[in-house]
Amino acid sequence: MKDAKVQILIVDLGSQYTEVIRRSLRYLGFKSIVLKPEDSLAWIEENFPKGIILSGGSASVYDPKAPQIPKELLNFKTPILGICFGMQWLAYTHDKDSVHHVTEGKSYGPVEINFLTERKSFLFQGLKEKINAWSSHGDSVGIVPKGFVVTATSKDGKVIEAMESENERLWGVQFHPEVIETDDENIILSNFVKDICGCTENYSRKDTIKEIAENTKKILGNGKAIIGVSGGVDSTTLASILGPALGSQLKAFFIDTGGMRKGEVEKVKKIAKRAGINLEVIDKYKSKFVEKVGSTIDAEEKREKFREVYGETFKEVAQFFGATHMIQGTLATDLIESGRLGESALIKTHHNVYLDLGLKEIMPIADFFKFEVREIAKEFGLEELISGRQPFPGPGLYLRIIGVPVTEELLEIVREADYQVAQILKKHNLYDAISQTIVALLGVKTVGVKGDGRVYGYSLVVRTVETTDFMTVKGFYLNKDICEEIVGALSKHPKIVRVMFDWTTKPPATTEFE
Ligand code: XMP
Repeated sequence: MKDAKVQILIVDLGSQYTEVIRRSLRYLGFKSIVLKPEDSLAWIEENFPKGIILSGGSASVYDPKAPQIPKELLNFKTPILGICFGMQWLAYTHDKDSVHHVTEGKSYGPVEINFLTERKSFLFQGLKEKINAWSSHGDSVGIVPKGFVVTATSKDGKVIEAMESENERLWGVQFHPEVIETDDENIILSNFVKDICGCTENYSRKDTIKEIAENTKKILGNGKAIIGVSGGVDSTTLASILGPALGSQLKAFFIDTGGMRKGEVEKVKKIAKRAGINLEVIDKYKSKFVEKVGSTIDAEEKREKFREVYGETFKEVAQFFGATHMIQGTLATDLIESGRLGESALIKTHHNVYLDLGLKEIMPIADFFKFEVREIAKEFGLEELISGRQPFPGPGLYLRIIGVPVTEELLEIVREADYQVAQILKKHNLYDAISQTIVALLGVKTVGVKGDGRVYGYSLVVRTVETTDFMTVKGFYLNKDICEEIVGALSKHPKIVRVMFDWTTKPPATTEFE
């Protein structure tokens, strides 16, 4: 019999990866709950979880404004896994001088972890002696507190990467086992929840789909809902789940913002038809979007303006349909990056997060990440969405004209360039191997020479990345011949004098330029 109870509590200490921990647990088959530190104690006393995970976070234990974790958490003898800041907190509560404080220069990126063979931790069973892991921290544990032993190090033993006190049932890791860049395939989290905490699996993909439909129907009651469908994985999958469940209570709209990819509108109509979604296309607001978004070059202001026009458009649509609710295909990533989930920081404003239209908003897939939605889409037979399309942000090509005001002409340049690059990558069978390809126009003018004349023109930058969840990304490096083919194709435009390639990881860059 399945234990429906939540067995793992994740205490959110402000990490960008808190929801990634929850997602990894879902993937392993376990329900969990994320709570703020101040809410955790009361919940534990009522629910007796089998394990507690302290997420990372950007604060220092020495910072008076750092999240205040109640020390009483240690009294329950429930196994605790502290990640990054979580591990530093475990050390600090046992020895006030144990954490080495760094005032400047955090370290981000890959780190090689050595597990100590003389004392192989239960947490690391099944892993090789060394793995590559992702780290993102300033402070670190410099002195192991009494009662703890070191179980992993990096940099020739100079940095403590893991420690534990089996007696006190406390485990700590400085690196991030939950992110895809750490090559452990979730073994560490699995060892913790299954073997150390003794949890039993209680979560499956089918449960998810059923829950999404049932919960949304319950919230909607007798109301009427509109949903914006962009043709992307998230909104289309959600509309296909909800279509049969809500029937005539739901109406789907596609707003052509003018920032779409080449041929997008036709593609969206086709996909919606196959998915059985009753879709209405609205294109009368295109020039309003260009005019408003083009009035600023600041990334956040552009997003705000886009959101404004998007909101106004939907307000009209909602009135026309007599809607009481708006359903959004917002994902966990969107909420995290717009600083609307737990303690995470604002990275970018998202146009579809808490629109405030005077309608009640429902975000049925806000707990999920892109790859999970892709799995759900597969279950629905929406293969085209998974294999045929890379993700594309709602504000579309507006985010890909950088440093100059957006105009119809510049939109057309990036639209055509995006199409040409996609064609080249498809020809070389690379398109599907790349998680996302971005072609952006850089508004800084530089000098070039075409024919025999001087051209003072713009540059295009091509960014190809690979990732699973877009919380972190790696560059997808293209070979010389393909780069040359792309440069040749894109520099044919009379106003383009340079083509650049960007393979920066996230962090520090985000996937999109704005
Ligand atoms: P970033 O740039 O934040 O992007 O690393 C992560 C993923 O999200 C997409 N993205 C968006 N999608 N509305 C969306 O629907 C947005 O405002 C938005 N901003 C970024 C981005 O293309 C990438 O796939």
